[in-house]
Amino acid sequence: MGLLGDSITIRGGKPLIGRIELKGAKNLVTKAMVASLLGETPSVLKDVPNISDVRIVRGLLEVHGVNVVEGVEEGELIFDPSNVESAHFADIDAHAGSSRIPILFCGPLLHRLGEAFIPDLGGCRIGDRPIDYHLDVLRNFGAVVEKLPSGIRMSAPNGLKGAKLELPYPSVGATEQVLLTAVRAEGITELKGAAIEPEIMDLINILQKMGAVITVDTDRVIRIEGVDRLEGYTHRALFDRNEAASWAAAALATEGDIFVGGARQGELLTFLNVYRKVGGQFEIHDDGIRFWHPGTPLNPVFIETDVHPGFMTDWQQPLVVALTKASGVSIVHETVYEQRFGFVDALVDMGATIQVHKDCLGGQACRFGQRNFNHSAVIVGPTRLHGADIEVPDLRGGFSHLIAALSAEGTSTVSNVGIIARGYENFITKLRLLGADFSTED
Ligand code: EPZ
Repeated sequence: MGLLGDSITIRGGKPLIGRIELKGAKNLVTKAMVASLLGETPSVLKDVPNISDVRIVRGLLEVHGVNVVEGVEEGELIFDPSNVESAHFADIDAHAGSSRIPILFCGPLLHRLGEAFIPDLGGCRIGDRPIDYHLDVLRNFGAVVEKLPSGIRMSAPNGLKGAKLELPYPSVGATEQVLLTAVRAEGITELKGAAIEPEIMDLINILQKMGAVITVDTDRVIRIEGVDRLEGYTHRALFDRNEAASWAAAALATEGDIFVGGARQGELLTFLNVYRKVGGQFEIHDDGIRFWHPGTPLNPVFIETDVHPGFMTDWQQPLVVALTKASGVSIVHETVYEQRFGFVDALVDMGATIQVHKDCLGGQACRFGQRNFNHSAVIVGPTRLHGADIEVPDLRGGFSHLIAALSAEGTSTVSNVGIIARGYENFITKLRLLGADFSTED
């Protein structure tokens, strides 16, 4: 999509059938790009998807003096950090857009330049998404954090030193912050309460290729021995398991049959179990996974989102659309983000029966239980969705709106679809390949 006009008109009710190919995971690739700042020599990253989050990070690297060029293979980027330099606050701000990635530049830039700036951070509108863990971690390494009206300035007058750290919650970003900072800090860092998502493990693979010494113990403990010098890396990014789960849900919701090339079983185990319980069919192949609707009624399920190895928060939104078609009552308890059910309003407008509740429904009490957040959803099916005019609220919610429109009877206009291009490469082309009936504004 040539970042098309911002809306598409979908004539729903047609099953999505065909094959699409995945590239590297957005949530690894963007961090791997930041890691290139730590090397003394160029890095080569393969399977980089053409998504706007990648373009944002590329722009941020370039304003910091990193030379970024395309390699010979499609999706290959080469990063040369020989001339890393401080960037102007206004340039960082202009390139960062609404991304949260600038916070992860801090450790590498403090090592290389002794200072770093971050503008006010955005990211998808899913709760407050604070950065307190990141700032605490950086302070513990010895960074001085100054809050300015337009953002945050950091410096490391005495260099960064390894630290004993413990996260209050296994945050993905804060764990990456620790990794990207500790690998070049003086001495040993021990992180308790770390997140262990596959994308984090792949970042550790990259850092080890660069020369880092990192041990992952049982019980969410990661130990890093700082080293004086890191080299560039050559790495093929882990596939995007969130995109895989999204297309799998699309196959269920539209009664279709989609082969997701590049998807692997290991990183999707938990998703596949739930998919099977809903009634979804799948077949694991060497080069991908085929997902399809059984042709019989779907089953309701109870899902609790969690950090890895639990059911990922990013998988629930697309699956909720399929659950509106299951026969009975499903419950989704969201325990990672406090406000990730904004997207269901549009589904209700399309005829779904979904109620959101402040209580922790169906499972364990979570940290949002007593805090007035609508974080449990009850979905009653089966319902037939009908077309509507809907506006995309965030990345995953947006993809679920697309699926809802594709599975609905009649015509829908989905606006603000540019957000979906943050994380789904060529989704318009993929929809065409799968036989969707729609027209774009341009
Ligand atoms: C990453 O966000 C992903 N983003 C998210 O994907 C994903 O949903 C999330 O991890 C969980 O897996 C990227 O990798 C770019 P967290 P991140 O820190 O790192 C709280 C998508 O659609 N928290 O693990 O920002 C936070 O509010 C996106 O692809 C603090 O309180 O997530 C949340 O409740 C959306 N203080 C929880 O921790 C902090 O300083 C987990 O967040 C940091 C986080």
